Amino acid sequence: MLEIKEQPTTTAGPEPAAPIGWRSKDLLDTDTLSLAEIEAIMETAEAMREVRARPVGKVATLRGVTVATLFYEQSTRTRASFEVAAKALGADVVNLTASGSSVEKGESLVDTVRTLEAIGTSVIVMRHRSSGAPYLAAANSGASIINGGDGTHAHPTQALLDLFTMRRHCGSLQGKKVVIVGDVLHSRVARSNIWTLLASGARVVLCGPPTLLPRALSMSGEPGECEVTTGFDEAIGGADVVMALRIQKERQESGLIPSLREYIRGYQLNAARLQRANPGALVMHPGPMNEGIEIAPDVAHGLASVIEEQVTNGVAVRMAVLYLIATGRTA
Ligand code: CP
Repeated sequence: MLEIKEQPTTTAGPEPAAPIGWRSKDLLDTDTLSLAEIEAIMETAEAMREVRARPVGKVATLRGVTVATLFYEQSTRTRASFEVAAKALGADVVNLTASGSSVEKGESLVDTVRTLEAIGTSVIVMRHRSSGAPYLAAANSGASIINGGDGTHAHPTQALLDLFTMRRHCGSLQGKKVVIVGDVLHSRVARSNIWTLLASGARVVLCGPPTLLPRALSMSGEPGECEVTTGFDEAIGGADVVMALRIQKERQESGLIPSLREYIRGYQLNAARLQRANPGALVMHPGPMNEGIEIAPDVAHGLASVIEEQVTNGVAVRMAVLYLIATGRTA
């Protein structure tokens, strides 16, 4: 746990101690995080969770820092929780969406990021429909870029909050069986989760219809590699965590699944299937959910579900990421 030191300048309670050794300017994906960096985020998130549990729930650590959220694609959880997280650390927040900004007049991503930097923004949380867009922004800006989801590529803070939630319930993930079911092929959440889970020693099983599974991934199931299967009823056996992914309507329209009825029959996470998992297995979903399609409503809101807790933990994890990156800039 981080050392908590008293800060007489704030009435909101003691602030987390400055991190040691954090040097990354940006957070673009989980695949570049070392185990030490993942641990630093998890440890800092625990401290932030304590901050959130206090009566005021805020500290002034990032007073004077401006954080921008720049979203070219819809979001509820990621955008709102980054805003809450930045404000809980005392930062100023600028919220920008493509709609209503000069992006609509044709301003480029690079010019938009540079404009935010020119008005004093030092951290930009961005979401973009194009995979790789945050890398372009990071290469062309002195501001720190945090990827809030890019196309089908990555969603690092979702994976980190998922890991944080699993660890709070399971402790070490070494040898734990985590089944990710659904549209793995197009899921940035799955891609980022694979890295953090394998790095944590989990056994990762990817499951879905053949048209929604990646071909490039190794299917050997050797330590450090994922298993890939189309049989959900077998895959869920002995699972410690089951994560359902959202089925996107456009996947059906593009012919990647025969029909929603077929999909539900083979891949819906429902109560009968959940009984095959280990007792106490966690039910997770990154949201937004299509209840009744990839997950049955009674499972989504049942005793095993930690879906709301994932959202709550998202604030602490995003506070940790903002804190490490912003304080790393000045270290
Ligand atoms: N999980 C997730 O990224 O949700 P939002 O699209 O609501 O941000």
